[in-house]
Amino acid sequence: MTLLQGFGTLFLALVAWRLLKRITQPRNPLEDVAGPEKEHWLKGNYHRIFQDGWDYNLQLAEKYGGAVKIHGLLGTLQLYVSDPRALHNIVVKEQHVFEETDMFILGNKIIFGEGLISTLGEQHRKQRKMLTPVFSLADMRDLLPVIQPIADKMRDVLLNQLPAGEGSQEIDLVPWMSRGTLEYVCQANLGYTFHALDPEKTNEYAKAVRNLSPTALSIILLRPFIPFFVRYFSLHWRNMFVEWLPIPQLRELRRIVRIMDTVSRQIFSEKRATMLGHTNGSSGTTSDGGGDLGERMRGKDIMSIMLKANASSDDADRLTDEELLGQVNTIIFAGFETTTIAVCRMLYILASKLEVQAKLRSEVRKAKRDYAASQNLDKRWEDVDLPYDVLMGLPFLDAVLRETLRVYPPTSLMSRTTRAATTLPLQFPVRSTSGAPITEISLSANTNVIISILASNHNKEVWGEDADEWRPERWLTATGERIRIGEDGDGVVRDGDVPAEGAPGNKGGVKYPGVYASMMTFLGGGRACIGFKFAEMEMKQILTTLLSAMHFALPAGTDAHGHRKEIRWKMNGLQVPVLEPPAGDGRTPQVPLDARRVCPTDFAPQPVAA
Ligand code: HEM
Repeated sequence: MTLLQGFGTLFLALVAWRLLKRITQPRNPLEDVAGPEKEHWLKGNYHRIFQDGWDYNLQLAEKYGGAVKIHGLLGTLQLYVSDPRALHNIVVKEQHVFEETDMFILGNKIIFGEGLISTLGEQHRKQRKMLTPVFSLADMRDLLPVIQPIADKMRDVLLNQLPAGEGSQEIDLVPWMSRGTLEYVCQANLGYTFHALDPEKTNEYAKAVRNLSPTALSIILLRPFIPFFVRYFSLHWRNMFVEWLPIPQLRELRRIVRIMDTVSRQIFSEKRATMLGHTNGSSGTTSDGGGDLGERMRGKDIMSIMLKANASSDDADRLTDEELLGQVNTIIFAGFETTTIAVCRMLYILASKLEVQAKLRSEVRKAKRDYAASQNLDKRWEDVDLPYDVLMGLPFLDAVLRETLRVYPPTSLMSRTTRAATTLPLQFPVRSTSGAPITEISLSANTNVIISILASNHNKEVWGEDADEWRPERWLTATGERIRIGEDGDGVVRDGDVPAEGAPGNKGGVKYPGVYASMMTFLGGGRACIGFKFAEMEMKQILTTLLSAMHFALPAGTDAHGHRKEIRWKMNGLQVPVLEPPAGDGRTPQVPLDARRVCPTDFAPQPVAA
């Protein structure tokens, strides 16, 4: 029997086992919940939801409401959720029941080690306790000026591609934003540069991190087998399988993981030696040419803060070396693609709405001029760097960011599985298959639940009839000030906050448990995005820096055959911008925009209220 045959036999055995389980299991309580018909014997409705599924996802919620029965792989019944009370139960109240799937946790463990996205229960809680203070507002304030050179470098590499004067040049933003956000997360996380923004240098670590997602996605259909192989085969045998199986992407993935592991171990041990006073750490270079940022970053990077916090914590709370190491690649990976997509989306929107771009640029110019005047800085306004509180307080910038993250969440769908039977209460009743109203749904143990961030952020019951529209003004008062959202006025809705009267995302007291302005983009509860404040700060810094120097417009040019270039955003789990055929291949991520240097007409005619 060849290996391929062996693999096929294994697959058939798995199918037979799932079928047998379904026949012998008691009736699934989800049978009664309404939802779409199964559309494929193997993929159920998954291909409609996860592949270019923007319209399909929104229609599911529109047609069936906040809790929908769908068919997963091999027809398993699953629940697709966007109801606010149900989501509160899933991510906050019963987080211990609704956990990440084994496939997700074990797959991440193989790639990233013992980091936040590979652990559950008490171990995860302990890691969060150690890491949450590392992303505090005080640390973000310290970090902002230290990472400004990255935004400056992003601006300069783009400016260098432009002709002098007012001429424009088409530039694909995806590679540059991706390199820039990778530098951000590497410098802020590790205090290291991997020269990702230097076109002359190729760095193995930066290349490995950027290739991780495409490689893993190309073999996504193998993911369901991960728990089986991890549980029943040792590392030695798993490595043998990787050698034997005729799947080159598996070997590429292993190569990427090894590069990431080697470099992060090296940096980790250097950081620790520095902390213990064994070296001054100033001349650190990784085996692949990455470089320590030296005094500029000394002690302010997330890794150094985490090591110090860990060393001074009680024995019971202290993380092991493997757990600390596991956070390195976890944070870099979790923080770079999501932000790339969000920044590209924002620049794409600004290129489509030139009046919004002009208004935003005017707000930035006014803030920089005012700040320079208040500090007696003798600088051109374009060269002024705004401190944290000024940057975060710009109302229109904040509104543009929030509205983009609400309407176009970079990650649209998350999975959870029930570790025990439970009942999910609903805010808004849905219909049963017979048309009767249902106010709560019983779920057996091991039921998969899909959290629809997209449908939640578009829920008209919570965001109003214009929920689908991109309208930054919803976050502003009539005079252009920020609408106060959280109780403490920092714009962040936390559990227990009383959202201000009339705040967006709070209709008659009904709101989502999201950690950021009640939207679900960064999720909520104990597994919410730990880096959302960093992401917010980084995106605002990039936007203000780029818009001060450059103007962006949709591509006016055509391809070699005269076809117009039209950018379309696909929703494949992550949002992916592609060029529609025939001008593009409909697959490769790209956002080609016409960029030029800013000229005096690129500002709003009226000064904005700030
Ligand atoms: C626009 C940018 C971002 C978006 C939309 C985003 C979104 C999310 C979401 C939805 C989750 C929950 C995942 C789940 O439960 O399975 C998450 C988790 C996480 N994010 Fe982000 N994220 C962003 C940026 C960042 C940044 C910049 C960092 C780090 C600097 C980061 C670090 C993490 C980590 C470590 C987790 C795992 C948390 C845990 O399991 O406890 N993210 N993010």
